[in-house]
Amino acid sequence: MIVAATPEALAQAATRLRAGEVVAFPTETVYGLGADATNAAAVARVFSIKNRPAFDPLIVHLADPAALATVAAACPDAARRLIARYWPGPLTIVLPKAARIPDIVTAGLPSVAVRVPDHPVARQLIALAERPIAAPSANPFGYVSPTTARHVAAQLGAAVPMVLDGGPCRVGVESTIVSFVDAEPVLLRPGAVTLEMLEAELGTVRVGSGAPLPTAPGQLPRHYAPRTPVEIVASVGAIPSTARAGAALLSSAPVAGGDGFAQVEVLSPSGDLEEAAARLFAALRALDDGGFTRLYAVAVPERGIGRAIMDRLRRAGTRTTA
Ligand code: TXA
Ligand code: MG
Repeated sequence: MIVAATPEALAQAATRLRAGEVVAFPTETVYGLGADATNAAAVARVFSIKNRPAFDPLIVHLADPAALATVAAACPDAARRLIARYWPGPLTIVLPKAARIPDIVTAGLPSVAVRVPDHPVARQLIALAERPIAAPSANPFGYVSPTTARHVAAQLGAAVPMVLDGGPCRVGVESTIVSFVDAEPVLLRPGAVTLEMLEAELGTVRVGSGAPLPTAPGQLPRHYAPRTPVEIVASVGAIPSTARAGAALLSSAPVAGGDGFAQVEVLSPSGDLEEAAARLFAALRALDDGGFTRLYAVAVPERGIGRAIMDRLRRAGTRTTA
């Protein structure tokens, strides 16, 4: 059931979490499906509701950066610099795990992914629960992440007794993930804390690509995927007119030459890629329900948040032309 995030609802949600139940809640990136990260049985419910394979570890969410030492066994200076700058915010850091976190959370890995979300509802909920909260995105495994409470209820509604509504997510794509498990930092998933921002703080950052499971399951080639085939194109002109009937066109910025498509969806009328990222998943969901034969997505430059948009489009699709 969707409930407005009133103080009473937050208190009830925290009580549920403390009792080992799951609660869906908003963050600034996407909605999460939360459970007490120190309770293995509660975390097991999250895996089962999402139909998520046990090899795919969860992110542990804290209300305050000061709690980091309760979930991570160590934190190098470079990671501390990122934390000082970007927490609370859409940045997840992978560190050696503390014994308090059960193996089910980390899929047996010796590392744990941690973040402090920048959303008042998320932070109040975690603070009231008085424990770290393990939370994957609140979608069935492999599907597009939810950016509204309704997205969560539409797919997981029956299995999730409480979905806290905090409005649409401001960022709209999942957090940036940086691992500090190896000697050098590795970007495992691009997000709103961009590679350029990371490199300004750390110097050169290696971009992980196609790393084998289970270290980076978010990098499964087909992930965050709608049912309708998605094809990335460099430009609209590359799509023959015969392929347009019955297909939809998805573009971050206004496009010329979009004639002949069954629908044209422009994510940002002003061509602002942050706005486009915030609206991307809701648009993919809506188009996926539209009965189109194919979704053509126009590529964006791979810099700034454009890297995260392209990453999600690639995972949503199967082929790339151009
Ligand atoms: O923005 C977000 O990060 C959202 C909100 C709810 O906070 N959460 C999210 O969680 O996207 P999820 O479970 O959908 O994605 C977490 C990713 C997975 O790809 C997982 O493989 C990776 O984090 N991950 C978790 N623990 C890891 C670890 N110890 N080492 C490497 N990757 C890890
Ligand atoms: Mg996810």
